[in-house]
Amino acid sequence: MALENIILEHEKGIATIFINRPEKLNALNKATIQELHETIQLIDKNPEVRVIIITGSGEKAFVAGADIAEFAHFSAEEGAQLSAKGQELLFDFIESLKTPVIAAINGFALGGGLELAMACHFRIASENAKMGLPETSLGVIPGYGGTQRLAQLVGKGRAMEMILTAGMIDADTAKMYGLVNHVVPQSDLFAAYMTIATRIMKNSPVAIGKAIEAVNANFISGINGFDVEIKNFGDCFATEDFKEGTTAFLEKRKANFK
Ligand code: COA
Repeated sequence: MALENIILEHEKGIATIFINRPEKLNALNKATIQELHETIQLIDKNPEVRVIIITGSGEKAFVAGADIAEFAHFSAEEGAQLSAKGQELLFDFIESLKTPVIAAINGFALGGGLELAMACHFRIASENAKMGLPETSLGVIPGYGGTQRLAQLVGKGRAMEMILTAGMIDADTAKMYGLVNHVVPQSDLFAAYMTIATRIMKNSPVAIGKAIEAVNANFISGINGFDVEIKNFGDCFATEDFKEGTTAFLEKRKANFK
């Protein structure tokens, strides 16, 4: 598959995806969403890839939103389709992936950009990052899961304020809100996510996938997260990773997960 809107790099088990439309501040058009879906699907099947990083090309933007030019003339039906298709192909897809996905927010993360970051399993940001859901200033609402995930991450009151004012918050405020886990100088962003990814890679990939599923279960209506935890906990006992992890501990050596 020829990649036109993203760049993929793979180094020592860590796949980094750069969204690469710098002239449009990496705005998410349909083609980029499709490329992201196909690329992530492919690398998720590669057992060598243990962590996926999503970031933006350049120093100005992670993603400045969905591509406004693409949907400005849409009807109500087309708008609903855009939202449903995007959620299915990218946002829900990333959230439910068993391979951990970290957003490295290197600049503006607005609208669909912040929604993309929020669909990732967690986020780190550079000091210059600015985040917001400005959709109400365009006469629309967040449509890629933003009304749900922002409230889950920062609480209902802060989510309401961010969405209703359409304002941006800086990286330190995002950290204080719990929207991002770490804030680092932009020049340190690469080192910061590589360090975190390397720590994740020391652990059992099977257990990591089960843990992601169990944590997510709390946010799926009609599903009891405690039940999912019990099932996934039990499932782990039947895995090679569990044998290796516990044996390594008892033998006082580092586990070597395949
Ligand atoms: N969709 C489409 N194009 C976008 C875009 C988006 N979400 N965000 C930025 N761009 C384009 C601009 O149209 C401009 O293109 P042009 O040079 O062909 O005119 C280019 O990216 C650079 O953006 P510009 O606005 O000139 O940069 P800036 O530094 O003055 O402002 C922002 C930066 C992020 C504040 C501003 O681009 C912005 O408000 N973007 C829209 C954010 C938004 O509402 N996102 C939610 C969409 S649902």
